[in-house]
Amino acid sequence: MAKLGVNVDHVATLRQARGGDEPDPVTAAALAELGGADGIVIHLREDRRHIQERDLRLLKAMVKTRLNMEMAATDEMAHIAMDVQPNLVTLVPERREELTTEGGVDVIGRKDDFKKIIKTLHGSEIPVSLFIDPSIDQLKAAHKVDADTVEIHTGPFANAQSPESERTELDAISDCVRLAYKLHLGVSVGHGLDYHNITMLTHLTEIEEYNIGHSIIARAVLVGLDRAVGEMKALLV
Ligand code: PXP
Repeated sequence: MAKLGVNVDHVATLRQARGGDEPDPVTAAALAELGGADGIVIHLREDRRHIQERDLRLLKAMVKTRLNMEMAATDEMAHIAMDVQPNLVTLVPERREELTTEGGVDVIGRKDDFKKIIKTLHGSEIPVSLFIDPSIDQLKAAHKVDADTVEIHTGPFANAQSPESERTELDAISDCVRLAYKLHLGVSVGHGLDYHNITMLTHLTEIEEYNIGHSIIARAVLVGLDRAVGEMKALLV
């Protein structure tokens, strides 16, 4: 059965809106695990707009499943990751003006940079995932720079405006997922997935993990985190 990684950044966003200490993403992570999450995902952004270093360190101590730290490929972040030792680092692109992660990393354009940071993280025994667009060329580049896992960006699929473009995006995801599997890369998917569109992916049994934030936290506001996580888990086969 595929695994579910629950991203709790949105809980931190709500906390930061008032600059206080509630709601706490660390408590949310514990509840998500009780609800059946197989892992917790957080993005420590360079501008610290939601998750703080305090959250990362507490989560490292408290998470009982797996902690996946998303971060930009910078020296500052690599140092923090090596100090905290999450179970997985996912390298994502980052722009200060974006609302959320937009697009995958350009592995082809920055091969040497990725090779270097992956080698550094591997030196501390931290496996590395690269968040990439559903592109065969980016996938092959990720394999070449020694990534352990790729996370295929499902945003364009989730936001497709017509059944035709949805089909095109789905085909691109399927091709990448299957090639990643053949190349013995771990393969996960994430971005924009919800309780409806996820059912179009679950026939792809090569997908090991779904990383989902917004739709689960949005549902949790209304029905509670335990139920929101459990209902998403029930959709995974
Ligand atoms: N995967 C990655 C790499 C992300 O950056 C995000 C957003 O933080 C997600 C998954 C989760 O996306 P969503 O919040 O749309 O479910």
